[in-house]
Amino acid sequence: MNSLPRQVKIVEVGPRDGLQNEKASVPAAVKIELVDRLTSAGFRNIEAASFVSPKWVPQMATSAEVMAGIARKNGVIYSALTPNMQGLTAALAARADEVVIFGSASEAFSQKNINCSIAESIARFEEVAKTAKDNGLRLRGSISCSFGCPYQGDVPLDAVADVVGRMRDLGCDEIDIADTIGVATPRKTQAVMERAIREFRVDALAGHFHDTYGQALANIYASLEVGISIYHSSVSGLGGCPYAKGATGNVATEDVLYLMQGLGIETGIDLDIVVDAGQFISHFLGRKGASRAGNAIAAKRAN
Ligand code: HMG
Ligand code: MG
Repeated sequence: MNSLPRQVKIVEVGPRDGLQNEKASVPAAVKIELVDRLTSAGFRNIEAASFVSPKWVPQMATSAEVMAGIARKNGVIYSALTPNMQGLTAALAARADEVVIFGSASEAFSQKNINCSIAESIARFEEVAKTAKDNGLRLRGSISCSFGCPYQGDVPLDAVADVVGRMRDLGCDEIDIADTIGVATPRKTQAVMERAIREFRVDALAGHFHDTYGQALANIYASLEVGISIYHSSVSGLGGCPYAKGATGNVATEDVLYLMQGLGIETGIDLDIVVDAGQFISHFLGRKGASRAGNAIAAKRAN
């Protein structure tokens, strides 16, 4: 049996990937409280904002206010999505620690999500990447539809590898291999990850799994087996993607933490505080959270 990493980094993406898909506007004060609760849980990296067009994703229009209002903790990386120079300028003004350029391994999805081809997106990211680096920011690249696309179906391994190489050449410190629509299964996950590892450092590749088909935890385990040690998750399983119809949220953070605890893998995160944060945001949204572990722990507490 392959040995698993002894510790992993969990990137909490609920305040961005999670909330961006909520139809009803969530006030900045609620987003700020959510981020602050997550900070106190011990995350080293929280995706807190997205400087995209408010016409495309209205929920993220308060990103500057959120970044200005959060109580930052030393050493924690607060990330923001920046699709272009306009986004980067806003992220710099908001004092983001890390910016995320987001592309796709699928041409069709690239057009729907950011209104340009893959090649055009990479050309657009060049200036964003250079300016981010010149300003001392960390740079992350995210690759949507690495395991399948809602518009074109199959996505070849070489298409993923090609975008990983381009993101690497842009100077990314970290690259996310994203299952936008949650279609991957474990063997496929390993094939994609192993191909990505040929292009970029294994310790700087991240698994970003949506849980649409209930496979995310299995895919994380499969990724651990091939040495991936960074995972994205969303408190209470919030989320989806506005440009991937039917896609549900990211894998729930509470479920990932429960898995890691059981495997004896260190995360540095307090699961109980994350459960509280999940209850807080679910209560605000007026529905039961989507984390199985979170709901189980909350039910046990109530007994
Ligand atoms: P466009 O319409 O081609 O851009 O959109 P444009 O440059 O022609 O600008 C059009 C208008 O947008 C202008 O305003 C700009 O000022 C404004 P107008 O003159 O019409 O009033 N604009 C902006 N406003 C604020 N901030 C900006 C910005 N840029 C332009 N940064 C664009 C191109 C990329 C901007 C647009 O397609 C967009 O915002 N897309 C964002 C889509 C998005 O946020 N998707 C969800 C996040 S990605 C994701 O969830 C996947 C991920 O989780 C991984 C996974 O699961 O796969 C990361
Ligand atoms: Mg996502």
